[in-house]
Amino acid sequence: MPDGTPVEELTLRALGPEDTKYVCKIITYGGAVRSLTVPDRNGNPVDVVLGFDTLEDYRAQDKYIGALVGRYANRVGGAEFTLNGAQYPLFANDGPNSLHGGRTGFDKRVWTVEELGGSAATLSLVSPDMDEGYPGSLEVRVTYTLSEGGLAISYRAKSDRDTVCNLTNHSYFNLSGHDSGSVEGQYIKLNASRYTPAGPGSIPTGEIAPVEGTPMDLRTAQPIGTRIGEPFGQLVMAGGYDHNWVIDKHEGTIWTAAAAWSPDTGIAMDAATTLPGVQFYAGNFLSGCPRGKGGAVYGDRHGFCLETQFFPDSPNQPGFPSCVLKAGEEYHSVTVYSFGVADCAEKL
Ligand code: BGC
Repeated sequence: MPDGTPVEELTLRALGPEDTKYVCKIITYGGAVRSLTVPDRNGNPVDVVLGFDTLEDYRAQDKYIGALVGRYANRVGGAEFTLNGAQYPLFANDGPNSLHGGRTGFDKRVWTVEELGGSAATLSLVSPDMDEGYPGSLEVRVTYTLSEGGLAISYRAKSDRDTVCNLTNHSYFNLSGHDSGSVEGQYIKLNASRYTPAGPGSIPTGEIAPVEGTPMDLRTAQPIGTRIGEPFGQLVMAGGYDHNWVIDKHEGTIWTAAAAWSPDTGIAMDAATTLPGVQFYAGNFLSGCPRGKGGAVYGDRHGFCLETQFFPDSPNQPGFPSCVLKAGEEYHSVTVYSFGVADCAEKL
């Protein structure tokens, strides 16, 4: 970093055969997942996340590629919120709104390596009181665990004052390989019968609407590109899929939010989480970042994100599940991205 702080890269290998194809690289800048290699239908390794070759490129891009996002992932409308009667102005970095933690969100910090084993690593960060305008000194610990099933990310945080907290990972997946071009031919399925429609600036209106009868209905697997261009107001406004879906819950504490599949490689992915929402972002505005790994050119829709989360603008939306973290209590969420191969989308 310009101030001399070193940035490290950690390599995780799944426990199992010595030649496991499950390998993940994490960098301490932004806690970003820099590569995630899994086997395709022929057993060949495929790197399914976008990333960069140099730290300079990570610092130059503004797409949150691979990063850990906080203190409040997604948008806070009007770049301010009220908590316990006090108003907290934030940095407006997305028109009049605050996106992904403000000017210097957690994606731009160098995280500390707390623990490192062969297949797991824990990173930590202390976000001081009033950091980016948020109250409370927040201690965050994030553990990445790689297995032959996939990558689990566990987030824990504690604050000494009441605050709001919403942590996610902003990996862009491309199940045909990070450098393979558009994901519009890849299948997506969202286990969500409702979503949160948004108004100007992608700030939720507060409504929780059924997906039924709209192109937001992705409950049956379909190629990302099939309905993304329909003249449906929400899609036109956001330039494609870039919304929060309300995950249908079932028994247990972790539920599968989404599944995706590449007909090219046969790689199938599930995203399961303890959180109530998922932002399915189709990478509509991805172009314009530096060359990716190995010189890859990342254009619009060359990767998609499944950002598990509290709903956008929850600090200002009394009708949404609460993202308030009380002083001394623990924030804990888990998201697991699982991989396998499938021979058709119907298997998702
Ligand atoms: C947001 C997009 C935004 C992107 C930043 C996503 O989480 O939903 O609207 O453009 O992050 O690259």
